[in-house]
Amino acid sequence: MSQGIVTVAYIGATIMFILALGGLSQPETSRRGNLFGIFGMLVALVATIIGTVSNNFFILFAGIIVGGSIGLVLAKKVEMTQMPEMVAILHSLVGLAAVLVGFADFMEHDTSRVGIDNTIHAVETYLGVLIGALTFSGSVVAFLKLSARISGKPILLPGRHWLNLLLLIGVIWLGGKFVGLTAMGGGAVPLILMTILSLLFGIHMVIAIGGADMPVVISMLNSYSGWAAAATGFMLSNDLLIVVGALVGSSGAILSYIMCRAMNRKFISVIAGGFGTSGGEADPGSDEEAGDIIAVEGSEVADMLLDAKEVMIIPGYGMAVAQAQHVVREITRKLREKKISVRFGIHPVAGRMPGHMNVLLAEAKVPYDIVFELDEVNDDFPNVDVSLVIGANDIVNPAALEVPDSPIAGMPVLECWKGKTTVVLKRSMATGYAGVSNPLFYKENTRMLFGDAKDTLENVLKSLD
Ligand code: TAP
Repeated sequence: MSQGIVTVAYIGATIMFILALGGLSQPETSRRGNLFGIFGMLVALVATIIGTVSNNFFILFAGIIVGGSIGLVLAKKVEMTQMPEMVAILHSLVGLAAVLVGFADFMEHDTSRVGIDNTIHAVETYLGVLIGALTFSGSVVAFLKLSARISGKPILLPGRHWLNLLLLIGVIWLGGKFVGLTAMGGGAVPLILMTILSLLFGIHMVIAIGGADMPVVISMLNSYSGWAAAATGFMLSNDLLIVVGALVGSSGAILSYIMCRAMNRKFISVIAGGFGTSGGEADPGSDEEAGDIIAVEGSEVADMLLDAKEVMIIPGYGMAVAQAQHVVREITRKLREKKISVRFGIHPVAGRMPGHMNVLLAEAKVPYDIVFELDEVNDDFPNVDVSLVIGANDIVNPAALEVPDSPIAGMPVLECWKGKTTVVLKRSMATGYAGVSNPLFYKENTRMLFGDAKDTLENVLKSLD
C-alpha cells in the first residue's frame, strides 16, 4: 500500500474517531458513535498492518490472535458491574504498551538521528515511557481498588506532597541525564531509574485517593493513557497514534474536569494526587445514635406511588447490581399510563462509571426525555411527592452538605429529603462506596424497602396492578 493511501486511510479513521466521540456524548446517538469507533479502528488496523508494517508478520498476527481472543473472552464474560475495573485494566495495558514501545525504540539505537533530531526523539521516548509507566501502575492500583482486592480507603504516606515533589525533581533530573547520554549512545540507566520512579509515583498517586473520589481518578487515568499513546505516536512518527492519543487525552481531561465539578473538587488537586482526603474518616455507620428507621412493604410503596402526582426515581449502583432497570421501566410505564408524572434524577457519579445509569436506562428503553441531570431537577424536590431511591446511597447522602469533615463533604447530592416522601430500596443498612453512614435513612419522611431491588420492585409492580 502506498504511503498516500495509508495517509488517506488515517485521515478517514481520524474523522471516524471524532464522529465516535461526538456520538458517544449523547445516549440517543451512542450506538452510532460506537459503530463509528469500531469501523475507524478497523480501518486504522488494516492501514497500519498493510501499509506500515514491513516484516515480522507472523509475530504480529500471532499477537493479534492471542490478544484479540483474550479481549473477546473477557468482554463477553465481564458483568456490567465490573466494567469500571475492566476499563481500569485496559488503561494499564495502554500504559504498559507505551513503556514497552519506548524501551524497544531506545534499544534500536537509530544512529541516523543526530543533533537536535536526536534530542527531540530522546525527549519523546522519555515522556512516552514516563506517562506510560505512571498510567500503568496507577491503573493497576485503581483496578485493585475498584474490584475490592485492596481497601478503597485512602492510604496517606507522611509528607506525601514532598515525596511527590521529590519524585518530580528526580524524573526531571534523570531526563536531563538521559537526553545527554543518548547523544553518546547511552542512557539506559536514567531511563530504567525514571521508569521505577514513575511506577512508584503512579502507585502513590492512586493509593492516596479515597473511595468517593475514584470517578475522577478513572477519567484522569483515561486521559493519561491517551497522552501516553500520543507520546508513543511521536516516538514512532505515527500521525494516527498522535491524533488518536490526543483525542483520548483531551476528552479524558474534559471528562475529569466534568467529574471534578460533579464532585466539587479542584482539578489541580486531582493532578497532584491525594485529593479529597483531608476530611474525616469514613465510618461504617452506627445505627444506634442515628435514630429509628421506618421499614415498609412493596404494597405500601405501590399505594404511595398511586397517590402521587410527581415521582422522582433516583437510580444508583444497586440498580445495576440487581439488574432492576427493566422492572423500573415497567413501573414507569404503568405510572405514566395513570397520568402520574415520572422523572429520573441522575447523579454524575451514580454507579461505578460515567454514564452508568444512562446506559442501563437506555438499555431498558426508558424514554430519554424523562431522564434528567442532577442540576436540572435538584431544585424541584419540594414539589416531588415520592422519590424512589433505587440502590443509591452516597449520591443522596445529606452528610455531603451537612457534615464538613465527611469524606464526601462538598459533593453535590440529589436533595430528595426535601420532597414529601423518600423510599430507599436496598438490602441492608450497609454504607455505599464511600463507606459513609447516611442520615437520610433516619429522616421522618424516609421509608426503607429492604431486599434485592429487582425483587422488591417486582412486588411493587404486582401491587400496582
Ligand atoms: P453507592 O453509594 O455505592 O450505594 C449503592 C447502594 O446500593 C449500597 O448502599 C447497597 O446497599 C445498595 N445495593 C447494592 N446491591 C443492591 C441490590 N442488589 N439491591 C438493592 N440495593 C443494592 O452507589 P451510588 O449512590 O450510585 O454512588 C456511587 C458511588 O460510587 C459514589 O461514592 C461514587 O463516587 C463512587 N464511584 C463512582 C464511579 C462513577 S464514575 N460513577 C466510579 C467509582 C466510584 P446494600 O448493600 O444495603 O444493598
